[in-house]
Amino acid sequence: MENINTEAVIKDLAFLPLDLPEFHPSPDLYDRLCKLYELENSAIDDDYRNCKHIPIYITEGNDANNYDDKTDYNWTSQSEEVPELVDYIKTHVQPWANPLGRIMIICTRAGEENPPHIDCSPDKFDKTLQHKWRMVLHGDVDSLYYITETTPDKEIIPANVKERPFMMSGSWPHGMRNNSNQMKFTLAMGSPWDADTTDGYTQLIENSFRKFNNYYLSKKGWLLPEDHVNLYEEKYKWKEYIKIIQLKT
Ligand SMILES: [Fe+2]
Repeated sequence: MENINTEAVIKDLAFLPLDLPEFHPSPDLYDRLCKLYELENSAIDDDYRNCKHIPIYITEGNDANNYDDKTDYNWTSQSEEVPELVDYIKTHVQPWANPLGRIMIICTRAGEENPPHIDCSPDKFDKTLQHKWRMVLHGDVDSLYYITETTPDKEIIPANVKERPFMMSGSWPHGMRNNSNQMKFTLAMGSPWDADTTDGYTQLIENSFRKFNNYYLSKKGWLLPEDHVNLYEEKYKWKEYIKIIQLKT
């Protein structure tokens, strides 16, 4: 593959494994993560996504819903229990995501689902790329699914590229079913980081596409579910309803 239209790869990206070192969790990581999940005042409830978040690198206040573009980010006390994750981020993520976005560990309980949702506001849906960095620490990558009208079963599922970090679109409606009998843990970086326009990020995507284009999912041509407005977080929905009413009148 010689010529890659990296700009298009970035714009249409729904899913792409990254050309970054594989991460092989040590045997005791799962237990440490479970402890952090159970610890009082450690993991934060996220009702919208039916999961908990263990904060790793956040603004003050441990607020899972703090989407402000603040820059006073700090490593949390929880991050001290998982130094290998901090080390991975500093070594392999920070070089192309500078400054880093908010980092959490998403905890999805055994047999439960993060119901279909959209990880941004309607205002940002078309105007920003909403790329989200993910690395599954325990569980399967292919428990993630995108919703689209394009396929008969209305779902598109990525390949189960375990041990490999990946980039995904957080704006396309998606959900996750943890059908296993253990908690799924996913290291996640997102807002306010949103797909750097830096050379480092462009290069990362180009290298990753060159290596993993077989696993690349493009959202180009995907059709949004008709009721996708219902999938926005409650605080955003009313704005969209007003827009629809205005269009109809
Ligand atoms: Fe999500």
